[in-house]
Amino acid sequence: MVSKMEFFEVVKKRRSIRKYQEKDVPDELIDKILETAFYSPSSRNSRPWHFIVVKDRELIKALANTRRATKFLETAPLAIVVCAEETSAWVEDASIAAEHIQLAATALGLGACWGHVRDRMHNENESAEDYVKRLLNIPQEIRVLCIIGVGYPAEQKEGHSEREIMWERVHLNKFGSPLKS
Ligand SMILES: Cc1cc2nc3c(=O)[nH]c(=O)nc-3n(C[C@H](O)[C@H](O)[C@H](O)COP(=O)(O)O)c2cc1C
Repeated sequence: MVSKMEFFEVVKKRRSIRKYQEKDVPDELIDKILETAFYSPSSRNSRPWHFIVVKDRELIKALANTRRATKFLETAPLAIVVCAEETSAWVEDASIAAEHIQLAATALGLGACWGHVRDRMHNENESAEDYVKRLLNIPQEIRVLCIIGVGYPAEQKEGHSEREIMWERVHLNKFGSPLKS
């Protein structure tokens, strides 16, 4: 099943969905999401990404314990851990891929949410990144940006609206001269 949702509709519809139905995400849809991630642009076309598809419920529960802000992963049937080789722009490159994943999930009728890992702590003694690396056997030289929870939504959220567009933050030619007056 490939949705025919129009691009602008997908972008508006995408919200952070943190509650998921029990239902598994079909492999066909997982493939589609990952294909979309690999269409991301990257600095100097370095394509530094690694993605770990986690379906094992016990591992997902352990990933949910990374931080308080990743607890929502507990009910996710699928978690995609977004990693990268440590290039000079790995954060940017991995972030773009993470957004492609979320948009692809939305287009396929799924819900997704970013659980942040980089530069956060698991507890007083261990970084969130080291905790995730330890759980999933990720080599030390690979960096972990985030964990995207994916599943059929068990919460409904309004899509984004035109009210959120901050035209006053858009400057014409030089900072301070508004594009629209
Ligand atoms: C860099 C980044 C880090 C985020 N980290 C988390 C997180 O750790 N836990 C979480 O529940 N949501 C996280 N989010 C989701 C944001 O809270 C969410 O995008 C924001 O509230 C706007 O809501 P929306 O996604 O529904 O438009 C993160 C989003 C981004 C872009």
